[in-house]
Amino acid sequence: MWNKNIQAVALAAGHAKRFRTGRTKLLEPLCGREMILYCTKLLEGLDIETTLVVGHQKDKLIKTIEKHHKKNISFVHQKEQLGTGHAVCCTKDLWKKEKILILNGDMPLITPQIIEQLYTAAHTNQATISFVTAHLEYTQHSYGRVVEKNDITEIIEAKDFTDDPRNYHWINAGIYLIDKEFLEKNSHLIDNSNASEEFYLTDLVGIASKQGHTVVTVPASYDRVRGVNTLEELWRAEQVKRSDLIKYWMNQGVRFIKAQNVHLHIDVSIGAGTCIGGGVYLEGNTTIGKNCTIREYTRLENATLGDNVFVKSHSVITDSIIRDNAEIGPYAHIRTKSIVDQHASIGNFVELKKSFVGQESKARHLAYIGDTTIGKKANIGAGTITCNFNGVTKNETFIGDNAQVGSNNTLVAPVTIEKNSFTAAGSTITENVPENALAFGRSRQINKEGHAPKLLEKLKEKAKLSPKNTKNKKQKEL
Ligand code: UD1
Ligand code: CA
Repeated sequence: MWNKNIQAVALAAGHAKRFRTGRTKLLEPLCGREMILYCTKLLEGLDIETTLVVGHQKDKLIKTIEKHHKKNISFVHQKEQLGTGHAVCCTKDLWKKEKILILNGDMPLITPQIIEQLYTAAHTNQATISFVTAHLEYTQHSYGRVVEKNDITEIIEAKDFTDDPRNYHWINAGIYLIDKEFLEKNSHLIDNSNASEEFYLTDLVGIASKQGHTVVTVPASYDRVRGVNTLEELWRAEQVKRSDLIKYWMNQGVRFIKAQNVHLHIDVSIGAGTCIGGGVYLEGNTTIGKNCTIREYTRLENATLGDNVFVKSHSVITDSIIRDNAEIGPYAHIRTKSIVDQHASIGNFVELKKSFVGQESKARHLAYIGDTTIGKKANIGAGTITCNFNGVTKNETFIGDNAQVGSNNTLVAPVTIEKNSFTAAGSTITENVPENALAFGRSRQINKEGHAPKLLEKLKEKAKLSPKNTKNKKQKEL
């Protein structure tokens, strides 16, 4: 129960000036999850009571946290963003546990193991402050550097660093475990006499060290503690996260044909034996069953696919269910709570909205099917349109088992085509079609014998007299 004498303070009030988007970076999604949630969910997973310091766009942040957390997270408002030290001091009234775990909110790749190691190191060494560090060869960066000289440990921020940076390769990650008692006695010593004129939390390390307290550093892999200050850093962090996810699914038996350009969200799950093509986007709460094939440039968002589903290239499926052995695409668009049942087939340029397609039914070419229920083994001809909207209300279409809807039909809803019936090609169906009936909803064809040559003559004559041709003739004569 190591976590019981710890409480966490996560910092999320900053303006994210280096992001240059005007919005808080902490709500920016990384593999489909808002950045701050990586921090808060990790703390929730460790069952550590958490206070979040909010400021810039605080209402949006609070709303997001409340949407995704069952347990209460408390919020403290930092009215003016005067620095990380000031942000922590704003939570003073809530400090009650023996140790305070402080984390920057902009580290989406951290793992629970890092927190556990930090605690173990603090406990074993009876440290007043322990903090996470990482080794970084690159010297042009904005991290605080760990400087250890004459038994004193300090963190010097990049802007205030005057030594040769090539000699300092350990950076401060932004995760600290600090004794509450020390914090209470010393947090007022933090000042803002530095290059940024901000109250640096990191000053506490030097203060503790100089007072003879034990300060312990806990190394972690740089990739796990990357901070995200710029859009470039967000992109880099997302690449790390995405390759973690892809590696995970590969180990579960999922084949990625071109892993380097697949976009994968954190809440997606994929069954063994499934093959994912290049340029595929798997987003939201998408669930894919076993042995499916998802061909290139397809996008699935909140889609649920059964087993052995085949989605051909350039298809979009959102908020819909595709059951076992169904075939979709290429270029299909399935959306808004549609269901494609087992062995059904939806082909190219077919749009499905809020519709159910029964087992073994087919709509293979150029159709719009909206607010429609289709039974089993029905066939929807090429170019069929359900006219579900009369300008005011949406209306439903029902198509029974084994019904054959001819090509280029317009089905004016509300309308029912009973089972085993046929509708003729080119029909406009405005009335219900009974079981076993053949419906014609078009004008009859008339053949006028020998009429074609006469018509041709007529047309030629007309062309000669047209003003456009007369003008051309005159121009030629000139
Ligand atoms: C900070 C550390 C630096 C460390 C780096 C690790 C300080 C002074 N520096 O720098 O040593 O190497 O993190 O990534 O702490 N925030 C507030 N209120 C404020 C200012 C910031 O809540 O007044 C929040 C931000 O929203 C952010 C976090 O604190 O989530 C860290 O702030 P940031 O400006 O990103 O610090 P760095 O410059 O990265
Ligand atoms: Ca940062």
